Amino acid sequence: MAVLARARRAVSAPVWFAPGRANLMGEHTDYNEGLVLPFALAQGVTATAVARSDRLLVVRSKQVPDDPVTVPLDSLQPGSVTGWAAYPAGVAWSLRTAGYLVPGASVDIDSDLPVGAGVSSSAALECSVALALCSLAGVSVPRRELAAIAKRAENDFVGAPTGIIDQSAALLCQAGHAMLLDCGTLAVTQVPFQPGRDGMAALIVDTRVPHALVDGEYASRRAECEAAARLLGVPALGLITDVRETERLTDPVLRRRARHVISDSARARAIATALLDTLAPDVYAFAGQLLTEGHMSLRDDFEVSWPEADLAVEVAIVAGALGAKMIGGGFGGSVLALVPASRLAAVRASLTEAFTRRGWTPPEFLNAVPSAAARRIA
Ligand code: GLA
Repeated sequence: MAVLARARRAVSAPVWFAPGRANLMGEHTDYNEGLVLPFALAQGVTATAVARSDRLLVVRSKQVPDDPVTVPLDSLQPGSVTGWAAYPAGVAWSLRTAGYLVPGASVDIDSDLPVGAGVSSSAALECSVALALCSLAGVSVPRRELAAIAKRAENDFVGAPTGIIDQSAALLCQAGHAMLLDCGTLAVTQVPFQPGRDGMAALIVDTRVPHALVDGEYASRRAECEAAARLLGVPALGLITDVRETERLTDPVLRRRARHVISDSARARAIATALLDTLAPDVYAFAGQLLTEGHMSLRDDFEVSWPEADLAVEVAIVAGALGAKMIGGGFGGSVLALVPASRLAAVRASLTEAFTRRGWTPPEFLNAVPSAAARRIA
């Protein structure tokens, strides 16, 4: 992978890498204390940090042509840094808020993850910088705590009210596995998932419609879920396992939102259980069918899908995928399809053709290989 090789060659300072993620199941369940089933990608972000003797944080990204952004560490406050540099600055702020004093640092960022494609480039940026700054500070922060610190940077400094899935995936996933995470208890079960070994591919289809989590739709879905939980008398929707409970909600919108959250959590558990059962027949066909059900639930009940994603799901299945769904927050980003390797070329060609026929920018493809969590790579 180019970004790893470049980072290894270029510097002698320690290089920290954090991966992007795809999510097999459980969208918008994380902030509802439900279940998620992400896996880490081979692609990600690297952060190379050297200490400075002043109290400045100087960040530079290969992907952003502007000059480096310089921020004084001691006056960091939510709102004091905007744009992409808010993520690394937010991490320094959040580490300080948690009691970890980070030194002045110059941080070089590189990435081979598409931005706005719903594969969690923000969390990969946060987590690679968090590890780089911790190593400069000489502190070793337990990974679950570091995930919470990185999430706080995104919630309170950047201002995106996201859940814990992305940072947990970047910091806790294992190669060859998906990770079933209970976002209420934070219990983790590593679930073997190696599509490549089994003649399958997990294909990410970047629909080229960028999404942004700071937009109001994400926050309004979150507020609707909280309202539904209150009406059902539970602290969070993820604590409900019987989807029939939602029939008690008289507001049809809240009923649909709750139905999505509860059913997506159940689908995450069902796929994990099937993958853990070595004797289960047709595990990929089963998972594929649940992926498609998950997409329909996101489209019809949670209403966060977008036309390019709906078309990509439909076309991929007609061309031979076993199932597909949008991943991430929605309103743009990517679709994940489970495809028999023998149908991969046909699926890609059909998608390109279908997008082009509508005059849409053709999708980009990424082979999603379940990979290891964040680590030092040089
Ligand atoms: C974004 C957020 C996550 C999660 C997903 C939807 O990726 O960052 O916390 O809520 O959307 O599953």
